[in-house]
Amino acid sequence: MPAIKVLLIASELNPIAKVGGLADVIGALPKALIKQGIDVRIAIPKYGVIDESKYPSKKLVGDIPVPFNGEEKKISIFETPLPNSAVPVYLLDNLEYLGQNGIYFESDASSSGSNREAERYSFFARAVLEIFEPLEWYPDVIHCHDWHVGFVPVILKILSKQNKKLAHIKSLLTIHNLEYQGRYDTGTIFTALGIKEEDFPTLSIQHNGQINSLQQAILTSDHLNTVSPNYAQEMLTPEYGAGLEETLQKRKADLEGLLNGIDVERFNPDTDDAIAANYSVEDPSGKIKCKADLQKITNLAVDPNIPILGIVSRFADQKGIDLINDIVDELAKEDIQFIALGTGDPKLEAMMSAAANKYPDKFYAQIEFNADMAQKIYAGSDFFLMPSKFEPCGLGQMISMRYGTVPIVRATGGLKDTVVAYNDRSGAGDGFVFDNYEAAEFMAAILRGLELYKNQDKWHTLVASIMRKDFSWVASAKKYIGLYKRLIGQ
Ligand code: GLC
Repeated sequence: MPAIKVLLIASELNPIAKVGGLADVIGALPKALIKQGIDVRIAIPKYGVIDESKYPSKKLVGDIPVPFNGEEKKISIFETPLPNSAVPVYLLDNLEYLGQNGIYFESDASSSGSNREAERYSFFARAVLEIFEPLEWYPDVIHCHDWHVGFVPVILKILSKQNKKLAHIKSLLTIHNLEYQGRYDTGTIFTALGIKEEDFPTLSIQHNGQINSLQQAILTSDHLNTVSPNYAQEMLTPEYGAGLEETLQKRKADLEGLLNGIDVERFNPDTDDAIAANYSVEDPSGKIKCKADLQKITNLAVDPNIPILGIVSRFADQKGIDLINDIVDELAKEDIQFIALGTGDPKLEAMMSAAANKYPDKFYAQIEFNADMAQKIYAGSDFFLMPSKFEPCGLGQMISMRYGTVPIVRATGGLKDTVVAYNDRSGAGDGFVFDNYEAAEFMAAILRGLELYKNQDKWHTLVASIMRKDFSWVASAKKYIGLYKRLIGQ
């Protein structure tokens, strides 16, 4: 049987264009798919911020017409390999819509707030469907990720009516984050995509006259999934559904939760060259060097006995930064060090900087995205904090466990699926877990963790056991392949 052909499309791709966890998934899942025999390729916009010196690309085809806004626009397709793999990445080039500014126009990752964002991604969604003919490659499945490419299943259904070559292509939508939905003015989007209201297979116009791209994708794609089993349940409720719970209820039968993995080759304390010393379960001695190095670069006291609480995050409301802010004074009373790395919402950035200014001996905040520093925190910390309000999957907790750093998480979304609460009597479990989004519960979980840290025998047993957990993509990729096969009727 010929290989199944899958095109992944998204707004982010690690390491070429990374903002958040979405990029990590798009950069890692295809590597696992190709190893299991899938003919997988990726398409993203050719953003101006892509570093050409690191990721040189070659032009495959130019002057491809794309009907948009009543005009004929043009794109070119460039190709670059996904680093450390044979997966082809197609970069769609069009300066007017795709090439300017950063990945997103707004500081808040994937915010979908502005018209320019809406225009960029509706153009990308339309353009992607024009690349198959010039590439002489038609996928069996278009695997769409998040709102940015939400119009792809819609346009695909419409175009398939006239173009038989598209008719067999199935669409799969993976939802990484329900909070970002991509809302468009109805008239604008109809004009942009050149479609009429009656063309829409499953049109749903919202009360304010807007069309929501994620909602359209939920209604129209052939199948959908999200990135953890628990979030697949949560998203059907008003608390987590972000206003789309009723839409999701309609597709409940076609909705499943497939847990993300992490790139275990990239995130490996035994080979990671961003950290001060390598280590493994068999020989964990390097971890203490990583801790000393982290304390040094953050200007905190170099002392192996002071537990470090680390956080690496996109500073968005979702991530529970305000909960950390609530406990800063209480935390400062403990013998701890706290290290935060991230960017995002200026209000949350300011909270972290304020804590560092108030308690310079204990708190350190670095307001930037810095991949090497992230690794140093994963490796050098003792605890990793993820007090998320909601968390579709969460990757930080898995990375931290692989580095022997004990997670303290709220039992929500994928955090609940991946971090089993530590049981002091049996010694089973992975980390410290709290249920309600409340500062007191969060603080109590931290205190339980600090208590265990004092018992170094038990502590080291826990560290070794979380380092042994398997978070590789192999199992998840198998599940995605099963899904692709079902979709195309194999
Ligand atoms: C989004 C979610 C996060 C998930 C990631 C990858 O960033 O917020 O929970 O891990 O996507 O799926």
